[in-house]
Amino acid sequence: VPLQPLNSFGIAARAATLVRVRNENDVKAVLADASLAGQPKFVLGGGSNIVLTGDVKSLVLKAEVLGRRVVRETERHVIVEAGAGENWHDFVTWTLDHNLPGLENLALIPGTVGASPVQNIGAYGVELQDRFDSLDGIDLATGELFSLNAAQCGFGYRDSVFKHPPAIPSQSGYAPPSMGLGGRTLILRVRFALPKAWKPVLGYLDIERRMQEEGVLNPSARQIYDWIVAIRRAKLPDPAVIGNAGSFFKNPTVTPEQCQDIIGRDPKVVHYPMADGSIKLAAGWLIDACGWKGKQVGNAAVYEKQALVLVNRGGLENPATGGEVMTLAKAIQTSVYERFGIRLEPEPVVV
Ligand code: EPU
Repeated sequence: VPLQPLNSFGIAARAATLVRVRNENDVKAVLADASLAGQPKFVLGGGSNIVLTGDVKSLVLKAEVLGRRVVRETERHVIVEAGAGENWHDFVTWTLDHNLPGLENLALIPGTVGASPVQNIGAYGVELQDRFDSLDGIDLATGELFSLNAAQCGFGYRDSVFKHPPAIPSQSGYAPPSMGLGGRTLILRVRFALPKAWKPVLGYLDIERRMQEEGVLNPSARQIYDWIVAIRRAKLPDPAVIGNAGSFFKNPTVTPEQCQDIIGRDPKVVHYPMADGSIKLAAGWLIDACGWKGKQVGNAAVYEKQALVLVNRGGLENPATGGEVMTLAKAIQTSVYERFGIRLEPEPVVV
């Protein structure tokens, strides 16, 4: 099965077997099939946050659970649910069309609803965990259905239990969920808690600039949505046109002392103080400062307008290979380490 149309980088890898799952019964049928049940499994969503470095030997389960609905109301929230296979941006648009604001800052993020908790997607001051209620998943080892709340998902910056390998169960069979559910969970549905008393999340430089330019003091959710769509279109490559997987590295955090040291070497370094006292650095700035914009390894390149994004310059005809992408990524990591003493961590899942 060709995976090129199923990953936003457009890397030309293949899978031995791919099964599209539309509900829990499809998953149970896979687990009941003698030839499929025992195989290692890989869950694929929109393919917008992965780098395929070769053919996938695991059984690929493509999550295609559909549906969007308002589930219930609590005193302060409206709980909205979407199937894992729903396109994320279409879902955000749907909530706004139904007068349910809260997800507008996360507009135009590529990928599916089911992938959104995996890396705790975030943009312009809002993270998925700020709007998350719960999710339903199915255990790919046992076929058991379960629900998890936010605490059980272990959200961190671009991180969750789904990004970490499962714990090895003790002899009693007990595996603490916090150790990781990666590779053994298929997320079926995600529920979001959207605030009834909505307030805009502003403060991000790009948004403040739009507010001033357009003289808008109290933007509506729709207005913020429109701005964010425009900001992202201007800065980030559209994966349908130029293959990419969004930010390729996480923004690193350092201690105030380390930050002072870097400011000493380079006073212009972009940094933000965090609530816990650490300092977050803009990885895009660090990479840019090392002169990487536009640089290329084979057909993998650093995007000219945002150094944090690696792109496929060869299109679908002559695509970058996963090896070229990773060679470029390693060269960037080395140069940022040599200049600033900081180790950048990849953000997409490397398969
Ligand atoms: N910068 C440069 N040169 C560059 C790129 C950035 O100097 O080539 C500077 C910018 O001028 C800015 C700062 O670095 O002062 C930060 O850049 P930007 O506002 O574009 O955001 P980012 O930190 O690069 C993060 C997220 C994005 C998210 C934006 C907006 C990560 C890894 N990335 O990017 O998320 O859309 O903030 O909130 O946290 C993603 O995760 O795939 C993603 C695109």
